Amino acid sequence: MSKVLIIGCGGVASVAIRKCCQVSGVFSEICIASRTVEKCEKLAADLVGKTDTKITTAKVNADDVQQVIALIKNYRPDLVMNIALPYQDLTIMDACLACGVNYMDTANYEPEDIEDPKWRKVYEKRCKEKGFSAYFDYSWQWAYREKFEKAGLTALLGCGFDPGVTQAYCAYAKKHVFDRIDTIDILDCNGGDHGYPFATNFNPEVNLREVSAPGSYWENGHWVEIPAMSIKREYDFDQVGKKDMYLLHHEEIESIAENIPEVKRIRFFMTFGQSYLTHMRCLENVGMLSTTPVLFEGKEIVPIKFLKALLPDPASLGPRTHGKTNIGCIFTGVKDGKEKTYSIYNVCDHQECYREVKSQAISYTTGVPAMCGALMLLTGKWNKKGVHTVEEFDPDPFLDALDRYGLPRSENFDPKLVD
Ligand SMILES: NC(=O)c1ccc[n+]([C@@H]2O[C@H](COP(=O)([O-])OP(=O)(O)OC[C@H]3O[C@@H](n4cnc5c(N)ncnc54)[C@H](OP(=O)(O)O)[C@@H]3O)[C@@H](O)[C@H]2O)c1
Repeated sequence: MSKVLIIGCGGVASVAIRKCCQVSGVFSEICIASRTVEKCEKLAADLVGKTDTKITTAKVNADDVQQVIALIKNYRPDLVMNIALPYQDLTIMDACLACGVNYMDTANYEPEDIEDPKWRKVYEKRCKEKGFSAYFDYSWQWAYREKFEKAGLTALLGCGFDPGVTQAYCAYAKKHVFDRIDTIDILDCNGGDHGYPFATNFNPEVNLREVSAPGSYWENGHWVEIPAMSIKREYDFDQVGKKDMYLLHHEEIESIAENIPEVKRIRFFMTFGQSYLTHMRCLENVGMLSTTPVLFEGKEIVPIKFLKALLPDPASLGPRTHGKTNIGCIFTGVKDGKEKTYSIYNVCDHQECYREVKSQAISYTTGVPAMCGALMLLTGKWNKKGVHTVEEFDPDPFLDALDRYGLPRSENFDPKLVD
């Protein structure tokens, strides 16, 4: 029986909350806290009579450490699930440390204001030293390792699908399938169609920043950076069919390279339709993806925030989206002296997700692992102290929980390789 504070009440958090309520024996009490408390209240009202979990709500601005500390002190949870935005990761981690409570999130830290000179100085140094230029990286949160260890607390980072489940797939392949893994290709395919000419499946700011940034991959111990969208492959995905996919930088490459150092090459590919790419390039060319405020009719506006206000709310795509996602990993390596290939993935149907939790598969495939990660921490199956990513824990109970709670794995012992 545990008490959990969930911060954020957007697309992903809504799924995680609904799934936690399906496991009321563990998640006996939940406080849903977010900036816009009305969203929390609406979801709480919708869950009345459908779960034994006791739900309360609270308003919090998680950019303000003191507000989060006050909320944690008042509610006294066993775990804080940060399902707000990556911008709040550090303030919520600070609050968890101050109050002695375990922490988890679904995406690694990046700042809201990438023009902030203090942050920019650190970022530019890191770009030079490490060789990739994504705005997000693990260094900010790994800097908390000693503090969490000393406090006897756990911070579980990036427990969505990718990052998250993809790292559990890597840990599983390492534990059960290979003696040595040589290459990992992480493939994220969304075969869904929402019928809009352009919309993002999750927070537009975070999504568009990720996609418009240079791509990079890990090879022979260092990063190789490439211009955005310059490596394209076609792949035939189980239950989805042939799709174009593009190499992107992605956060789990960084942690896998550190935690499974034998791997010679780690790449991440995501599928995009032509319409999405054309819209994105056009918006980028006219400056709509910029985070730098511009003066418009006497008022400062941030272009990407204005764009967010115009685009469909990702949470509203659920009823319109048809088709399936297929996300997983393809490995090459060696077992018992023989070369071997293997893939493990999940296929998720947008409409089935909508029927179950009123959300499309992108939020579902992130929200379910967040709930399962919390389940691992609350039941003590994952109990390493310090700051850790998913591949550092035993993948078996986590993958069993995913099988049970809506994201079952499929395996292929003779998969087609990307190239
Ligand atoms: N690992 C993965 O596979 C994966 C995949 C997709 C997304 N993600 C991550 O999941 C997280 C949630 O994404 P989403 O699509 O659910 O985003 P979203 O729909 O935009 O929801 C974000 C929520 O956080 C709240 N929030 C924002 N700033 C806040 C603040 N300062 N204080 C308190 N609450 C605040 C928002 O409140 P308002 O209602 O007031 O805006 C909203 O409820 C993001 O970190 C995203 O990067 C991970």
